[in-house]
Amino acid sequence: MKDRQENSAAPAGRCAIVIFGAAGDLTRRKLIPALYNLAEGGLLPDEFAIVGFARRLDDEEFRRQLRDEARRHLTGEFRQEIWDWLDSRVYRVIGDLSDPEAYVQLKETLAKVDEERGTGGNYLYYMSTPPSFFSEIPRQLNQVGLAREAEGRWRRVVIEKPFGRDLDSARSLNRELLEVLDESQIYRIDHYLGKETVQNILVFRFANAIFEPIWNRRYVDHVQISVAERVDVGTRGGYYDHAGALRDMVPNHLFQLLALIAMEPPVSFEADAVRNEKGKIFRAINPIEPDEVLDEAVRGQYGDGTMPDGERVMAYRSAERVAPDSATETYVALKLMVDNWRWAGVPFYLRTGKSLPKRVTEIAIQFKSVPLMLFEKTPIDELEPNVLVLRIQPDEGISLSFGAKVPGPVMRIGGVDMDFCNANYFDATPATGYETLLYDCMKGDANLFQRGDNAEAAWSVVNPILDVWSALTPRDFPNYTAGSWGPEAADELMRCDGRAWRKL
Ligand code: BG6
Repeated sequence: MKDRQENSAAPAGRCAIVIFGAAGDLTRRKLIPALYNLAEGGLLPDEFAIVGFARRLDDEEFRRQLRDEARRHLTGEFRQEIWDWLDSRVYRVIGDLSDPEAYVQLKETLAKVDEERGTGGNYLYYMSTPPSFFSEIPRQLNQVGLAREAEGRWRRVVIEKPFGRDLDSARSLNRELLEVLDESQIYRIDHYLGKETVQNILVFRFANAIFEPIWNRRYVDHVQISVAERVDVGTRGGYYDHAGALRDMVPNHLFQLLALIAMEPPVSFEADAVRNEKGKIFRAINPIEPDEVLDEAVRGQYGDGTMPDGERVMAYRSAERVAPDSATETYVALKLMVDNWRWAGVPFYLRTGKSLPKRVTEIAIQFKSVPLMLFEKTPIDELEPNVLVLRIQPDEGISLSFGAKVPGPVMRIGGVDMDFCNANYFDATPATGYETLLYDCMKGDANLFQRGDNAEAAWSVVNPILDVWSALTPRDFPNYTAGSWGPEAADELMRCDGRAWRKL
């Protein structure tokens, strides 16, 4: 494609992407715009095709929808010639995901695609479907010989979240997948790892020599990971009311952030070297004991409220497809301890919730206070400790706060910031967050994808909380108003430790 010179990266090798659930929301909002952006960046090979698999998919209608939606969801400008290039590579298969006959048809279509487009039998299967199909699709693919890799042809399966709904179901899903696939063929997606600022965490830590020496229990007092969402449950009640904030966000997105902050330097940037280190963190997290759950894990559900801009938000329990007496949490705050040499004694506080006043994802590393106060006019408890904040979204950047002398004859100290904003240094590249993930998968680089054992290890940490919460129905729900910063108990969690959540 055009503009290859702009990109030092080479296009992926020849392949076809098969999208199961092609008529769905994710395909239109993320996958097609991401493929468009990859095409524009010269990262797709000429020998490329998109095969949409869905129950109903009129050809003309399908293409028109893809084009319109790509246009609508693109972050950059729409270029007709790029779209034409992609459009000429679109195929479709109509069928039911449970119908073996549909997979026979898929096989025929892929043979035709290989012939017409030179895709060489390399297939990336993207499961943009309800989780109930995650093990069925690979099994059906295997039945018709589409899952096995041989003679240099690769077959990879991308699995959307949620990967299971607890430890047992994640284990069963892994087991079922491994009956027909090798672990190296399985790409468990976590879209947080597709975010540039999330990928930047390891660069920040390991491409700079000055931070690593202080990145440990000797210097760090505690870490706060906040993923605040302004959105409410919207139309996703059907899924969300059975999931809740803990399942939806913690063992995946928040744990990935935690692992990137806490992990040891890997021996290389190879997928397994990185994932081994992440896995060690999940295994080092001290699972909260059942009798401590109510003290160290806080849950909340939003009631009616008003956003700072005046927008009225209806209580979670009045949302579409949510039970009127729902006990599902829309907010979680946790205190976790990572029991290893580097982090022993340093709490990691995690919080996430919906209908909070604004959308902010950030990781704050708060350093210990100075050991001795030299400046008489500034009592030590008025001095703010140094905080390093990695701002993941929306205002991407990194800042470090420190004390500076306030000009004047009296020695006074004020808090100031050194601030790096991504936008001041780098042009924004049009991105949906799925570009890198799709491109990496086509190249066979699993670095940004969850490995099966790590997914299980993450569930092991949250499982005791799920168990206690499901056994003890919350009596105070709704316990925070939409547009506030969450339940009082979350503040109490910090207060008990003599700390406070950062103002976001
Ligand atoms: C998804 C969750 O995985 O992540 C949603 O299912 C959540 O509930 C979303 O809103 C948050 O992603 P982002 O990229 O908007 O921070």
